[in-house]
Amino acid sequence: MLTSGGDAPGMNAAIRAVVRTAVHHTLDVVGVVRGYEGLVNNKIIEMKRDSVANIIQRGGTILGTARSDDFMTTKGMMKALRTVSHNAIDALIVIGGDGTMRGAHAFAKKHKITIMGIPSTIDNDMYGTDYTIGFDTAINSALEAVDRIRDTASSLERHFFIEVMGRCAGFIGLAVGLAGGAEDVLIPETSSDLRGLAERMRKSAQRGKTSNIVIVSEGDEAGNALTVAKKIKSLTHEKSRVAILGYIQRGGSPSAHDRVLASKLGHAAVNGLLKDISGCMVGEVKDKIVYTPLKDTYTKKKKIDKDIYKIIRILSE
Ligand code: F6P
Repeated sequence: MLTSGGDAPGMNAAIRAVVRTAVHHTLDVVGVVRGYEGLVNNKIIEMKRDSVANIIQRGGTILGTARSDDFMTTKGMMKALRTVSHNAIDALIVIGGDGTMRGAHAFAKKHKITIMGIPSTIDNDMYGTDYTIGFDTAINSALEAVDRIRDTASSLERHFFIEVMGRCAGFIGLAVGLAGGAEDVLIPETSSDLRGLAERMRKSAQRGKTSNIVIVSEGDEAGNALTVAKKIKSLTHEKSRVAILGYIQRGGSPSAHDRVLASKLGHAAVNGLLKDISGCMVGEVKDKIVYTPLKDTYTKKKKIDKDIYKIIRILSE
Protein backbone atom coordinates (compact mmCIF):
# COMPACT_ATOMS: atom_id res chain seq x y z
CA MET A 1 0.00 0.00 0.00
CA LEU A 2 1.20 3.49 -0.73
CA THR A 3 0.00 7.09 -0.60
CA SER A 4 0.98 9.37 -3.46
CA GLY A 5 0.61 12.97 -4.69
CA GLY A 6 -0.69 15.76 -2.47
CA ASP A 7 -1.47 14.59 1.06
CA ALA A 8 -5.10 14.79 2.08
CA PRO A 9 -6.79 14.54 5.49
CA GLY A 10 -8.18 11.02 5.87
CA MET A 11 -5.32 9.22 4.14
CA ASN A 12 -4.32 7.77 7.51
CA ALA A 13 -7.86 6.58 8.17
CA ALA A 14 -7.73 4.79 4.80
CA ILE A 15 -4.33 3.24 5.64
CA ARG A 16 -5.76 2.02 8.94
CA ALA A 17 -8.82 0.53 7.23
CA VAL A 18 -6.68 -1.31 4.67
CA VAL A 19 -4.36 -2.78 7.32
CA ARG A 20 -7.12 -3.77 9.73
CA THR A 21 -9.26 -5.36 6.98
CA ALA A 22 -6.26 -7.25 5.63
CA VAL A 23 -5.31 -8.48 9.11
CA HIS A 24 -8.94 -9.58 9.62
CA HIS A 25 -8.54 -11.78 6.52
CA THR A 26 -5.11 -13.00 7.74
CA LEU A 27 -3.30 -11.24 4.90
CA ASP A 28 0.15 -9.64 5.25
CA VAL A 29 0.51 -5.94 4.48
CA VAL A 30 3.54 -3.78 3.80
CA GLY A 31 3.67 -0.02 3.41
CA VAL A 32 5.66 1.77 0.71
CA VAL A 33 7.34 4.93 2.01
CA ARG A 34 6.87 8.16 -0.04
CA GLY A 35 4.59 6.83 -2.76
CA TYR A 36 5.84 5.62 -6.13
CA GLU A 37 9.26 7.07 -5.23
CA GLY A 38 9.50 4.43 -2.50
CA LEU A 39 8.36 1.72 -4.87
CA VAL A 40 11.16 2.66 -7.27
CA ASN A 41 13.71 2.67 -4.44
CA ASN A 42 12.45 -0.37 -2.50
CA LYS A 43 11.46 1.57 0.64
CA ILE A 44 9.20 -0.96 2.28
CA ILE A 45 8.00 -1.25 5.86
CA GLU A 46 6.06 -4.00 7.56
CA MET A 47 2.59 -3.01 8.72
CA LYS A 48 0.87 -4.80 11.55
CA ARG A 49 -2.41 -4.19 13.37
CA ASP A 50 -0.55 -1.95 15.88
CA SER A 51 1.27 0.06 13.19
CA VAL A 52 -2.00 1.87 12.51
CA ALA A 53 -3.10 2.41 16.11
CA ASN A 54 -4.02 5.99 16.99
CA ILE A 55 -3.79 7.39 13.45
CA ILE A 56 -7.46 7.67 12.40
CA GLN A 57 -7.56 11.29 13.64
CA ARG A 58 -4.23 12.42 12.15
CA GLY A 59 -3.86 14.55 9.02
CA GLY A 60 -1.19 13.94 6.37
CA THR A 61 -0.01 10.38 5.78
CA ILE A 62 2.17 8.25 8.06
CA LEU A 63 3.63 6.58 4.95
CA GLY A 64 4.79 9.89 3.49
CA THR A 65 4.06 10.88 -0.08
CA ALA A 66 5.75 12.30 -3.18
CA ARG A 67 5.09 13.37 -6.73
CA SER A 68 7.42 10.99 -8.59
CA ASP A 69 8.67 11.66 -12.12
CA ASP A 70 11.04 8.67 -11.95
CA PHE A 71 8.24 6.14 -11.67
CA MET A 72 6.76 7.15 -15.02
CA THR A 73 10.03 6.37 -16.86
CA THR A 74 10.70 2.88 -18.28
CA LYS A 75 13.71 2.51 -15.99
CA GLY A 76 11.76 3.68 -12.93
CA MET A 77 8.91 1.28 -13.61
CA MET A 78 11.34 -1.62 -14.03
CA LYS A 79 12.86 -0.79 -10.64
CA ALA A 80 9.35 -0.61 -9.14
CA LEU A 81 8.56 -4.00 -10.66
CA ARG A 82 11.70 -5.44 -9.00
CA THR A 83 10.47 -4.08 -5.64
CA VAL A 84 7.13 -5.81 -6.20
CA SER A 85 8.68 -9.20 -6.98
CA HIS A 86 11.49 -8.90 -4.41
CA ASN A 87 8.95 -8.34 -1.63
CA ALA A 88 6.50 -10.96 -3.00
CA ILE A 89 3.75 -8.37 -3.30
CA ASP A 90 0.57 -9.91 -4.79
CA ALA A 91 -1.45 -6.73 -4.98
CA LEU A 92 -0.90 -3.01 -4.68
CA ILE A 93 -3.31 -0.51 -3.10
CA VAL A 94 -2.61 3.09 -4.10
CA ILE A 95 -4.21 6.02 -2.27
CA GLY A 96 -4.19 9.41 -4.01
CA GLY A 97 -5.57 11.66 -6.71
CA ASP A 98 -5.82 11.50 -10.50
CA GLY A 99 -2.02 11.45 -11.01
CA THR A 100 -1.81 8.46 -8.68
CA MET A 101 -4.48 6.59 -10.67
CA ARG A 102 -2.72 7.47 -13.93
CA GLY A 103 0.51 5.93 -12.55
CA ALA A 104 -1.36 2.87 -11.29
CA HIS A 105 -3.01 2.33 -14.65
CA ALA A 106 0.29 2.60 -16.53
CA PHE A 107 1.97 0.16 -14.12
CA ALA A 108 -0.90 -2.35 -14.21
CA LYS A 109 -1.09 -2.24 -17.99
CA LYS A 110 2.62 -2.56 -18.63
CA HIS A 111 3.51 -5.18 -16.02
CA LYS A 112 0.20 -6.97 -15.34
CA ILE A 113 0.17 -5.92 -11.69
CA THR A 114 -2.93 -6.41 -9.53
CA ILE A 115 -3.86 -2.91 -8.39
CA MET A 116 -6.68 -1.18 -6.55
CA GLY A 117 -6.97 2.60 -6.18
CA ILE A 118 -8.51 4.62 -3.35
CA PRO A 119 -9.45 8.24 -4.22
CA SER A 120 -7.89 10.79 -1.90
CA THR A 121 -7.34 14.43 -2.83
CA ILE A 122 -8.72 17.65 -1.42
CA ASP A 123 -9.72 18.65 -4.99
CA ASN A 124 -12.62 16.13 -5.35
CA ASP A 125 -11.97 16.06 -9.10
CA MET A 126 -12.12 12.31 -9.66
CA TYR A 127 -14.57 10.40 -11.77
CA GLY A 128 -15.92 7.27 -10.07
CA THR A 129 -16.74 8.66 -6.64
CA ASP A 130 -19.06 11.40 -5.41
CA TYR A 131 -16.47 12.50 -2.86
CA THR A 132 -12.74 12.01 -2.53
CA ILE A 133 -11.13 11.51 0.88
CA GLY A 134 -9.93 14.91 2.15
CA PHE A 135 -12.36 17.16 0.32
CA ASP A 136 -14.78 17.59 3.21
CA THR A 137 -12.04 18.52 5.69
CA ALA A 138 -10.47 20.94 3.21
CA ILE A 139 -13.70 22.82 2.54
CA ASN A 140 -14.42 23.05 6.26
CA SER A 141 -10.93 24.43 6.95
CA ALA A 142 -11.33 26.96 4.15
CA LEU A 143 -14.77 27.89 5.39
CA GLU A 144 -13.49 28.60 8.88
CA ALA A 145 -10.95 31.01 7.35
CA VAL A 146 -13.62 32.67 5.17
CA ASP A 147 -15.84 33.21 8.23
CA ARG A 148 -12.96 34.93 10.03
CA ILE A 149 -12.17 37.13 7.04
CA ARG A 150 -15.85 38.06 6.80
CA ASP A 151 -15.58 39.72 10.23
CA THR A 152 -12.97 42.13 8.83
CA ALA A 153 -14.76 42.52 5.50
CA SER A 154 -17.96 43.68 7.18
CA SER A 155 -16.36 45.70 10.00
CA LEU A 156 -14.03 47.65 7.71
CA GLU A 157 -16.39 47.61 4.70
CA ARG A 158 -13.86 45.94 2.44
CA HIS A 159 -13.96 43.70 -0.57
CA PHE A 160 -12.01 40.46 -0.30
CA PHE A 161 -10.74 38.10 -2.96
CA ILE A 162 -10.04 34.78 -1.25
CA GLU A 163 -7.99 32.20 -3.12
CA VAL A 164 -8.69 28.54 -2.53
CA MET A 165 -6.85 25.49 -3.90
CA GLY A 166 -7.85 23.77 -7.11
CA ARG A 167 -5.45 24.15 -10.01
CA CYS A 168 -7.78 22.47 -12.48
CA ALA A 169 -10.97 22.01 -10.52
CA GLY A 170 -13.51 24.28 -8.85
CA PHE A 171 -15.18 21.83 -6.45
CA ILE A 172 -13.52 23.49 -3.43
CA GLY A 173 -14.34 26.97 -4.72
CA LEU A 174 -18.00 26.18 -5.34
CA ALA A 175 -18.60 24.48 -2.00
CA VAL A 176 -16.77 27.16 -0.01
CA GLY A 177 -18.52 29.91 -1.98
CA LEU A 178 -21.97 28.55 -1.30
CA ALA A 179 -21.35 27.64 2.35
CA GLY A 180 -19.49 30.90 3.02
CA GLY A 181 -22.18 33.16 1.52
CA ALA A 182 -19.77 34.59 -1.06
CA GLU A 183 -20.94 37.14 -3.61
CA ASP A 184 -19.26 35.27 -6.45
CA VAL A 185 -16.98 32.35 -7.25
CA LEU A 186 -14.45 32.08 -10.06
CA ILE A 187 -13.59 28.53 -11.02
CA PRO A 188 -11.57 26.92 -13.83
CA GLU A 189 -14.56 25.05 -15.33
CA THR A 190 -16.48 28.18 -16.33
CA SER A 191 -15.39 31.29 -18.19
CA SER A 192 -14.93 34.25 -15.88
CA ASP A 193 -16.71 37.48 -16.71
CA LEU A 194 -14.85 40.11 -14.70
CA ARG A 195 -16.76 42.99 -16.28
CA GLY A 196 -19.99 41.31 -15.19
CA LEU A 197 -18.62 40.88 -11.67
CA ALA A 198 -17.52 44.54 -11.52
CA GLU A 199 -20.99 45.59 -12.67
CA ARG A 200 -22.71 43.43 -10.04
CA MET A 201 -20.43 44.92 -7.37
CA ARG A 202 -21.33 48.44 -8.54
CA LYS A 203 -25.06 47.69 -8.46
CA SER A 204 -24.95 46.04 -5.06
CA ALA A 205 -23.03 49.06 -3.70
CA GLN A 206 -25.88 51.26 -4.93
CA ARG A 207 -28.27 49.05 -2.96
CA GLY A 208 -26.14 49.67 0.13
CA LYS A 209 -23.85 46.65 0.18
CA THR A 210 -20.51 47.69 1.69
CA SER A 211 -18.42 44.55 1.32
CA ASN A 212 -18.05 41.61 -1.03
CA ILE A 213 -16.39 38.24 -0.71
CA VAL A 214 -15.30 36.61 -3.95
CA ILE A 215 -13.81 33.10 -3.91
CA VAL A 216 -11.17 32.50 -6.59
CA SER A 217 -9.88 29.02 -7.45
CA GLU A 218 -6.10 29.20 -7.86
CA GLY A 219 -6.43 27.88 -11.42
CA ASP A 220 -9.07 30.27 -12.69
CA GLU A 221 -8.60 31.40 -16.29
CA ALA A 222 -8.78 35.07 -15.23
CA GLY A 223 -5.73 34.50 -13.00
CA ASN A 224 -5.14 33.94 -9.30
CA ALA A 225 -6.76 36.09 -6.60
CA LEU A 226 -4.07 38.82 -6.80
CA THR A 227 -4.50 39.17 -10.56
CA VAL A 228 -8.28 39.14 -10.34
CA ALA A 229 -8.22 41.79 -7.58
CA LYS A 230 -6.02 44.03 -9.77
CA LYS A 231 -8.27 43.60 -12.78
CA ILE A 232 -11.40 44.36 -10.75
CA LYS A 233 -9.73 47.46 -9.29
CA SER A 234 -9.06 48.75 -12.77
CA LEU A 235 -12.78 48.35 -13.55
CA THR A 236 -14.36 49.56 -10.28
CA HIS A 237 -11.59 51.86 -8.95
CA GLU A 238 -12.29 50.36 -5.54
CA LYS A 239 -9.64 48.98 -3.23
CA SER A 240 -9.79 45.39 -2.05
CA ARG A 241 -7.78 42.87 -0.04
CA VAL A 242 -6.52 39.45 -1.03
CA ALA A 243 -6.17 36.35 1.14
CA ILE A 244 -4.53 33.18 -0.16
CA LEU A 245 -5.56 30.23 1.98
CA GLY A 246 -2.96 27.82 0.53
CA TYR A 247 -1.78 24.78 2.43
CA ILE A 248 -3.89 25.33 5.55
CA GLN A 249 -6.61 23.69 3.44
CA ARG A 250 -4.60 20.47 3.14
CA GLY A 251 -3.59 19.91 6.73
CA GLY A 252 -5.44 19.07 9.90
CA SER A 253 -7.43 16.33 11.50
CA PRO A 254 -9.92 14.72 9.10
CA SER A 255 -13.63 15.46 9.52
CA ALA A 256 -16.09 12.75 10.51
CA HIS A 257 -17.23 12.55 6.87
CA ASP A 258 -13.68 11.94 5.64
CA ARG A 259 -12.97 9.33 8.32
CA VAL A 260 -16.18 7.46 7.49
CA LEU A 261 -15.48 7.58 3.75
CA ALA A 262 -11.84 6.53 4.20
CA SER A 263 -12.81 3.63 6.47
CA LYS A 264 -15.46 2.39 4.01
CA LEU A 265 -13.21 2.71 0.96
CA GLY A 266 -10.16 1.15 2.66
CA HIS A 267 -12.29 -1.81 3.69
CA ALA A 268 -13.87 -2.10 0.23
CA ALA A 269 -10.47 -1.91 -1.49
CA VAL A 270 -9.25 -5.06 0.27
CA ASN A 271 -12.58 -6.82 -0.21
CA GLY A 272 -12.53 -5.93 -3.91
CA LEU A 273 -9.09 -7.48 -4.33
CA LEU A 274 -10.26 -10.61 -2.53
CA LYS A 275 -13.08 -10.83 -5.09
CA ASP A 276 -10.46 -10.63 -7.87
CA ILE A 277 -11.35 -7.07 -8.86
CA SER A 278 -8.23 -5.37 -10.19
CA GLY A 279 -7.22 -2.35 -12.29
CA CYS A 280 -10.00 -0.34 -10.64
CA MET A 281 -10.52 2.47 -8.17
CA VAL A 282 -13.03 1.96 -5.40
CA GLY A 283 -15.45 4.83 -4.85
CA GLU A 284 -18.82 5.69 -3.39
CA VAL A 285 -21.55 6.85 -5.75
CA LYS A 286 -25.02 7.59 -4.38
CA ASP A 287 -24.13 5.75 -1.16
CA LYS A 288 -23.07 2.58 -2.97
CA ILE A 289 -19.55 1.15 -3.28
CA VAL A 290 -18.50 1.03 -6.94
CA TYR A 291 -15.32 -0.08 -8.74
CA THR A 292 -14.36 2.07 -11.75
CA PRO A 293 -11.62 1.15 -14.26
CA LEU A 294 -8.50 3.17 -13.40
CA LYS A 295 -8.36 4.74 -16.84
CA ASP A 296 -11.86 6.22 -16.50
CA THR A 297 -11.00 7.90 -13.20
CA TYR A 298 -8.59 10.34 -14.83
CA THR A 299 -9.79 10.46 -18.45
CA LYS A 300 -13.49 11.03 -17.71
CA LYS A 301 -14.45 14.29 -16.08
CA LYS A 302 -16.64 14.60 -13.02
CA LYS A 303 -19.03 17.42 -13.76
CA ILE A 304 -19.41 20.37 -11.45
CA ASP A 305 -22.96 21.19 -10.43
CA LYS A 306 -23.66 24.42 -12.32
CA ASP A 307 -26.85 24.91 -10.27
CA ILE A 308 -24.66 25.67 -7.24
CA TYR A 309 -23.06 28.43 -9.24
CA LYS A 310 -26.47 29.96 -9.94
CA ILE A 311 -27.63 29.58 -6.33
CA ILE A 312 -24.54 31.47 -5.07
CA ARG A 313 -25.43 34.44 -7.29
CA ILE A 314 -29.12 34.45 -6.33
CA LEU A 315 -28.53 34.10 -2.59
CA SER A 316 -26.01 36.92 -2.49
CA GLU A 317 -27.97 39.42 -4.60
O1 F6P B 1 -4.04 18.19 -5.71
C1 F6P B 1 -4.16 18.81 -4.49
C2 F6P B 1 -3.55 20.18 -4.51
O2 F6P B 1 -3.58 20.70 -3.20
C3 F6P B 1 -4.18 21.17 -5.49
O3 F6P B 1 -5.36 21.76 -5.02
C4 F6P B 1 -3.06 22.16 -5.66
O4 F6P B 1 -3.20 22.86 -6.85
C5 F6P B 1 -1.84 21.29 -5.66
O5 F6P B 1 -2.19 20.13 -4.91
C6 F6P B 1 -0.62 21.90 -5.06
O6 F6P B 1 0.45 21.04 -5.30
P1 F6P B 1 1.82 21.02 -4.50
O7 F6P B 1 1.57 20.33 -3.20
O8 F6P B 1 2.73 20.20 -5.36
O9 F6P B 1 2.23 22.42 -4.32
